Amino acid sequence: MDKATEQTLKEVKQLIQKAKRICILTGAGVSAESGISTFREAQQKGNEPGKGLWSQYDPQQLASIEGFLKDPEMVWQWYQWRREVNQDKEPNPAHTAIAHWQKQAKESGKQKVTLITQNVDGLHQKAGSDPQVYEVIDIHGNIWQNHCLQCREQHLEDVTGLQQVPECQVCGGQVRPSVVWFGEALDEKKWQDGETAAYCCDLFLSIGTSSQVYPAAGLMMLAKSQGAKIVEINPEPTQSLVVDYQVIAKAGKVLPKLID
Ligand code: OAD
Repeated sequence: MDKATEQTLKEVKQLIQKAKRICILTGAGVSAESGISTFREAQQKGNEPGKGLWSQYDPQQLASIEGFLKDPEMVWQWYQWRREVNQDKEPNPAHTAIAHWQKQAKESGKQKVTLITQNVDGLHQKAGSDPQVYEVIDIHGNIWQNHCLQCREQHLEDVTGLQQVPECQVCGGQVRPSVVWFGEALDEKKWQDGETAAYCCDLFLSIGTSSQVYPAAGLMMLAKSQGAKIVEINPEPTQSLVVDYQVIAKAGKVLPKLID
């Protein structure tokens, strides 16, 4: 790690120690060190395609209601494939450090740490950021859950290996993965909780996200408008103008150092 990054880490550590209300927004980069693909990394770096999912697959086909209605089987099977790929993945030191921080903050009562994640892989929860115990908001949903497209009934049955779109037992509609697709509204309660956390925080950490997908990317601006300090952790810094501290490093390398 170079001197400049070490100095930034030192300053961010001091901010973390002083902060009372912390809002963390995570993206696919947090799970990259667990072996899960990000979405648009190759585009961002101008590299040859191949790394981010959206440089290999068409989000319009696979992550939109129009795509699902056109070819439900293909979309269902793509999510089944992603579930298979994610199945044996484990949380990395970034997930674990955040989970420890939430635990520590709750026990001491000195800080409030809200985690908002755009990730649907469930690794934060697996690391111990339990939404029943801590403030954990999965604003883009959860790839392990399903619901009916028509009546929205949750479907808890095991769908492992199922290649055909299941039929809803309640209304006969098609069952779909419970992830937010492009063009769809976020869950209202989750979004309001996320906005409140961003609005009220004094420190906002944006970790492993390209900050390109709204409304999630707007939370950082909201926090900034209320006077919060903004920290970004990303080996490929974004162009965001509201960031106060850029930690140019991998989340799994620096988060355990920041939160001990
Ligand atoms: P992106 O793929 O757009 O961005 C991932 C970011 O993580 C990039 O800026 C990388 O540089 C950074 N990164 C890579 N490795 C990292 C590491 N080890 N530590 C820290 N950062 C690292 O993913 P998101 O911003 O999460 O929507 O994308 C937002 C949404 O777009 C996703 O939630 C998804 C997608 O369509 C849904 O699934 C609904």
